[in-house]
Amino acid sequence: MNELLINKTHDEVRQGEAFSPKENSGIKYQKHFYIESYGCAMNFADSEVIASILQKDNIGCTNDSDQADIILINTCSIRDKAEEKIRKRLTEFKQLKKKKPALIIGILGCMAERLKGNLLEEEKLVDLVVGPDAYRTLPGLIEEAETGQKGVNVLLSRDETYADISPIRLNSNGINAFVSIMRGCNNMCSFCVVPFTRGRERSRSAVSIIAECEALFNEGYKEVTLLGQNVDSYYWRDEEAGTNVSFAELMEKVALISPLLRVRFSTSHPKDITDDVLFTIKKYDNICNYIHLPVQSGSTRVLQMMNRTYSREWYLAKFNRIKEIIPDCGISTDMITGFCTETEEDHQESLSLMESCKYDLAYMYFYSERPGTLAARRFKDDVPLETKKRRLQEMVNMHRVHSLESMQRDLGKTFRVLIEGESKKSDQEFYGRNDQNKVVVFPKKNFKKGDYVTVKIEECTAGTLIGKTIE
Ligand code: SAM
Ligand code: SF4
Ligand code: F3S
Repeated sequence: MNELLINKTHDEVRQGEAFSPKENSGIKYQKHFYIESYGCAMNFADSEVIASILQKDNIGCTNDSDQADIILINTCSIRDKAEEKIRKRLTEFKQLKKKKPALIIGILGCMAERLKGNLLEEEKLVDLVVGPDAYRTLPGLIEEAETGQKGVNVLLSRDETYADISPIRLNSNGINAFVSIMRGCNNMCSFCVVPFTRGRERSRSAVSIIAECEALFNEGYKEVTLLGQNVDSYYWRDEEAGTNVSFAELMEKVALISPLLRVRFSTSHPKDITDDVLFTIKKYDNICNYIHLPVQSGSTRVLQMMNRTYSREWYLAKFNRIKEIIPDCGISTDMITGFCTETEEDHQESLSLMESCKYDLAYMYFYSERPGTLAARRFKDDVPLETKKRRLQEMVNMHRVHSLESMQRDLGKTFRVLIEGESKKSDQEFYGRNDQNKVVVFPKKNFKKGDYVTVKIEECTAGTLIGKTIE
């Protein structure tokens, strides 16, 4: 195990989910594509952009790979294990292609960008390799592939944001939607492949973001999650109005669409989150009191090698500032164990930082060297795998205690919960999330999906609050 995933949220890295059409619109498409997505929420949001581009070209979506003319895998390169999974899946699809030679198989996303044309060599039966900034060219590349040519486009762009494309919400519950507000990343965390697979940071026009959020609200959606690798550095200049829009201002504009539209966001880089952002969260009830604030390590020496640009003390001061301005703010983190040169003392510092912060939620991984990154070029991946895993397990064990304590602190409290769907365990219960992003389960009564309810918490597990609605 190299990661711990508790609740499904926008912060988690997901592994292979097929999209299915929300409803059959009755349109007869000439061809069908099947898409499977891996990785972060941004990749899932991209799959919805891809669906929109393909449907405009008369290629409809199917959730049955046997029925598909085109199979697309939207891939993730963040850790070696993520790529391994995709390669395994590709082998299965290749069997399908042997039975159906006209089938087109495409690799999209971060792994396509990282490995580029090599994928065509390595994986002989792949027909398409398309990077994250080249999805507009997919229809043309599919046409080429149909004539037997291999289609490759891995050009990264400085300005592509797909701003004008209305994503097609294929797998949606009709309540929560991801809205991409920027692409790429300008930070050079030494362990991270994202700047290489997603290119330079660029912000999407605020006008198009607001329009997308308004349209979602008018369709009945009740929650939007604004997505970027580093949302706090969102910056857009409205040339027409002659004004600039910061992340705090963007969030405010989205919050003002309606008090019934909840706003979430991910991910915040500790170095960039400002008091302005914190006071905006505090000001609006519909901006959720929840911040994903990845720390990565508790050792200043390791943080320096990771190029995170803050020290342990600086991070802790930021953490305390959040709690000072928004006392009930839920805070989660990402942690890496066994980064290059990490000593037992460094590891203890990570554990002691976790002990101080007692995160509500944590995503923990052991370090996986990514070719081409700063760390791979500069440092030796010198912590043995067993040590990385043992340190990870110690961290996971500690976090289990913290997350249970965090849940237990909520016993007896009441929360406003947005109903997202039927609980997995019982058709007599709904589940939703509170402001702090915790999953809450309660009896259905006469409520419906999309309603806001007030729930008093009576019980809990490490991952779920259980309660009853009150008037
Ligand atoms: N932009 C976000 C940030 O700055 O935290 C998220 C980046 S990444 C999609 C999600 C998490 O994966 C990171 O926060 C980090 O903990 C982890 N990660 C990234 N590269 C990794 C690597 N080479 N090995 C292990 N974990 C890694
Ligand atoms: Fe990777 Fe760092 Fe950018 Fe996050 S902020 S995507 S960890 S380089
Ligand atoms: Fe993975 Fe790319 Fe996201 S590497 S985590 S899919 S930006």
